[in-house]
Amino acid sequence: MVFMIYLDNPATTKRKPLSVVTSLTKNTLLNSVNAGRGGHKYSIKGAKIVTDTADKLAKLFKISAPERIAFTQNATLALNMAINGILSQGGHAIVTSMEHNSVLRPVNKLGNYTVVYADNEGYVNPEDIKAAIKDDTKLIVCTHASNVSGSIQPIAEIGKIARANGLIFLVDAAQSAGTVDIDVDAMCIDLLAFSGHKSLLGPLGTGGLYVGERARLEPYITGGTGSLSKSLTQPLTLPDMLHSGTLNTPAIAALGRAVDFILKKGSSKILAHERLLAENLINRLDSIDGVSVLGGRDMNKRNGTVAFTVDGMPSEEVSRILAVQYDIATRGGWHCAYLAHKTLGTARHGAVRAGFSYYNSMYDVRALSYAISDIVKNLRAVHF
Ligand SMILES: Cc1ncc(COP(=O)(O)O)c(C=O)c1O
Repeated sequence: MVFMIYLDNPATTKRKPLSVVTSLTKNTLLNSVNAGRGGHKYSIKGAKIVTDTADKLAKLFKISAPERIAFTQNATLALNMAINGILSQGGHAIVTSMEHNSVLRPVNKLGNYTVVYADNEGYVNPEDIKAAIKDDTKLIVCTHASNVSGSIQPIAEIGKIARANGLIFLVDAAQSAGTVDIDVDAMCIDLLAFSGHKSLLGPLGTGGLYVGERARLEPYITGGTGSLSKSLTQPLTLPDMLHSGTLNTPAIAALGRAVDFILKKGSSKILAHERLLAENLINRLDSIDGVSVLGGRDMNKRNGTVAFTVDGMPSEEVSRILAVQYDIATRGGWHCAYLAHKTLGTARHGAVRAGFSYYNSMYDVRALSYAISDIVKNLRAVHF
């Protein structure tokens, strides 16, 4: 069997460590249990799975209080819980133009926000964020790594500005958790939303939200916590406050195995591998006439995501040809981040995105660059 070359990792990583797959299967069979809902051994086991995985994530993100991590089904829910939880009584938010619509739509729905534009390589200037602070600003939201250009934002500098101005700082780590270093205290992060199913290499249906002590959240979803059954109001202790409804215990157990894998391999080594592939791809694409790679060329400020355009062909068409004729999975279009495309100059036709994971190799880089050369050659042949 020939496998498709899978480069849609920023959407979700398709290949997971074997230990993750085994854990998911085993725990589905043996531990499809409701965590902390009773005194029987399965309920106790379920609760232990949840705390064990929180402990591992706390180690990865340098969080000193693991009980302040709540599990969600993805980063979108975590971001909605954070944004609505902080702004429930009103207040202004500052977001950047590199945000995913999992941030932009909730702030837009609430209505009181400012978008700080990044430069045309996708980098936000912290001073621009400082300048956007108003009297009623409560929250700054910034994506750690762009899901379009792969640009990594100066999170620690932005965090310092938030802290100095008494604001809550929410970081969207959907594209960085598991590869780019995160230290919530050193970076002054009050709220950290992450996906479990992307670069953390965990199963689909996993994500989470860390809530630091400065962040006073109103619960976004209420009920079904298992605790305080006699009360008509949501418990305010963490993580129960944010654990409404039955948790996906087998997936959380498997996420724990994914974090074990990352801690063992070393996130910086995984990032170095992905960057090497990305750099090689950028160099190859830069040498093809009519192909433009988005973002800067300083690899220390990028992750393993590369987006590019092909002159004369809409990005969705390039991505379709790659899938149908070359069996290479990329994503064309606007990647749920239209303002990021506006920032990067690709609002009209979007871009083709290829993102590397731990499991990609130089073979995949070569296959994609040969395919793009071919597509460009064929395009020229049609035009002459
Ligand atoms: C930067 C960013 N934020 C948020 C999300 C939403 O993540 P999830 O799919 O886990 O809800 C994504 C997904 O691609 C993303 O790239």
